[in-house]
Amino acid sequence: MNRHRTILLIALLFFTTITYAANWQREQLLSTRNTSLMLTAGQDEALKFAYYGDRIDESECNNIHEAWVGLNRDAYPTFGSTCIYSQAMQATHCDGNMTLDLVVKNVERKATDRGEILSITLQDKLYPYQVIVNYESLYDEDIIENWVEISHNEKKAVTLNRFDSSYMPIRKGNVWISHLHGAWSAESWLTAEPLEHGILEIRNTDGARNGHFNRPEVMFSLDGKPTENSGRVIGAVLCWSGNYSLRIDTDKNNAHNFFAGMCNEASQYILEPKEIFVTPRVAYTYSDRGIGGASRNYHKWARNGMVHNATTQRDILLNSWEGVYLDVNEKEMEQMMSDFAAMGGELFVMDDGWFGNKYPRSKDNSSLGDWVVDNQKLPNGLSHLINTAQNKGIKFGIWIEPESTNSISELFEKHPDWTLQVKGRAPHYGRGGTQLLLDMTNPAVQDFVFGVVDNLLTQHPDISYIKWDANVELFNYGSTYLPRNKQSHIYIEYHRGLVNVLKRIRDKYPNVVIQACGGGGGRISYGVMPYFDEFWVSDNTDALQRIYMQWATSYFYPSIAMAQHVSASPNHQTGRSIPLKFRFDVAMTGRLGMELQPKDMTDEERSFSTNAIAQYKVIRPIVQLGNQYRLVSPFDNRGIASLMYVNDDASQAVFFAYKTQHFVNMNVERIRLDGLDADKYYTIREFNIAPGEKPCHLDGKTFKGRLLMNVGIEVALDKEYASRVLLLEESK
Ligand code: DGJ
Repeated sequence: MNRHRTILLIALLFFTTITYAANWQREQLLSTRNTSLMLTAGQDEALKFAYYGDRIDESECNNIHEAWVGLNRDAYPTFGSTCIYSQAMQATHCDGNMTLDLVVKNVERKATDRGEILSITLQDKLYPYQVIVNYESLYDEDIIENWVEISHNEKKAVTLNRFDSSYMPIRKGNVWISHLHGAWSAESWLTAEPLEHGILEIRNTDGARNGHFNRPEVMFSLDGKPTENSGRVIGAVLCWSGNYSLRIDTDKNNAHNFFAGMCNEASQYILEPKEIFVTPRVAYTYSDRGIGGASRNYHKWARNGMVHNATTQRDILLNSWEGVYLDVNEKEMEQMMSDFAAMGGELFVMDDGWFGNKYPRSKDNSSLGDWVVDNQKLPNGLSHLINTAQNKGIKFGIWIEPESTNSISELFEKHPDWTLQVKGRAPHYGRGGTQLLLDMTNPAVQDFVFGVVDNLLTQHPDISYIKWDANVELFNYGSTYLPRNKQSHIYIEYHRGLVNVLKRIRDKYPNVVIQACGGGGGRISYGVMPYFDEFWVSDNTDALQRIYMQWATSYFYPSIAMAQHVSASPNHQTGRSIPLKFRFDVAMTGRLGMELQPKDMTDEERSFSTNAIAQYKVIRPIVQLGNQYRLVSPFDNRGIASLMYVNDDASQAVFFAYKTQHFVNMNVERIRLDGLDADKYYTIREFNIAPGEKPCHLDGKTFKGRLLMNVGIEVALDKEYASRVLLLEESK
């Protein structure tokens, strides 16, 4: 055997061994209906990210490398031997070593009824430390979820200092990011900005809720300034209700590196041998139909499970908060139910102020935790109110805030150790100067919180709706339950505890409608929405400002989850006076409700509301279950805003337009519709016409879908706060 043949044989043997041991393909392609993700998973090599975007097939995998689109980046970069860029993970081993060097040891693929799970096991070269990187494809929704599971078999605990859920490199170009931010009563403001060099961090450290301030959801527009209906977009949503950090590090090598995970500040995690740390998921989507296309993917994903029960239409409700605030009393509750039932309403929700025995809840500084009826205010108890509602033909719902207590409460007197607290320090109080957060890391507290809901629903099985509020940040970073060396787990364990409780509630009560409220929109979060049917968008019910907030929220959340209420005029938050029609037209784009004292309305207002409620019932299936197309953005300052919903077979659509500015001789542009069938004919009917007005010029006319979408319609929006609702129905 000559030298060359020997080398060839050895090489062949070596190659065969590798192929045999690595019983998987090197290129791992995971696809949905319209998108693909590709990774390179060579045995004992670092896992490489290769591609995410338009759907490709197996035969194109090699081309991806040849075209150099993969950026040659690790799919899950870790701090240590080689990585000089930002990382997704950094850990300190039990011997003090701070480095990781992970290589592929196994690849598994598992079919599910909605797609496939691709799991790649990475193992450190030196330590028994393992990370499983998971990707789950949801075929119909065009979503790929990414998360990791971390475990080890070292002699003692390992400290996780950074533990992101996901990393995604995006080639540098004219890439823009759209993200939401805001504050109480001004949630969900939208910013779109180009990504420049340096690090942009979007994070939230409220501790208890993460829907105020910044939100863990972003869109990357790959073709420059974001547009609604064209251009390539990658969306990313972190499904976690606690502190988080999303970072985009635009580096010297022309890549935007996106990292998403729990915030690591004051959150080092002590991982015991064999314990498995599972990170929250990041849900990615890709669309070449602009921001709108990516939003519709998220809406579908939400309706298919990420929002609880989101294929069932929601009731039209009256909430008592802005009507009576804390001054709940039996007579007014009865009167509100009676008035609302007469207007065609379907559900009454008694908000804050109904509870407290030793300490009645007359101000916002007491009673949280004492979930018993205030007999002074409601002498005949909840049963009487529920019966009254049923007699009027409507359902009954109730407000609770089960994660909190006040220092003035029986609960606090009995269990002072159940609140988050720092030994030796005076507590920092929240709302009312007395509010404290319960320590949800403690299983006894979790049982109590579960019991709040369980007791209510056991004693009153006819309660159909719960508003679950959360009005305080996580102050007083200390737990009497967690051991000394695990105090840094509070931010994480709080939310694990919360989700435990929510799961228990859903197992026992799958059909009760539960609203997530966090002092307004604080609990808008995919970390908890699988257990909630809807969320309160904001405590700001001003219809003009709501157009902006609802618009931005709809980037990621479907209309069926968005609670939108008509309130009194002048508005209690902004002092602005807006016509009732406009207020209804704005609230009708989501789950319609009212939040005022009906007895303060005029007869004309009641009669208008009765009609508006009846009309909403007609369009409700299209709005709540249809596909949303945003047409003219209020954020573009063009003086109008417009959006529409289209049902699945494009036989029906509802169109909304609003005047957001008012000047003499201002240009109200022609609006091009979207989502219709180009070849179908649609007859237009105007809905919810303003009192004393005639239907607009489009009413009763029939147009071809192609014309409505390519040419558009001129909508009469003459007066200040003019608005229009048009129903389009296929004419055969
Ligand atoms: C904050 C919520 O956002 C309001 O809707 C209302 O329920 C109050 N809390 C009650 O205290």
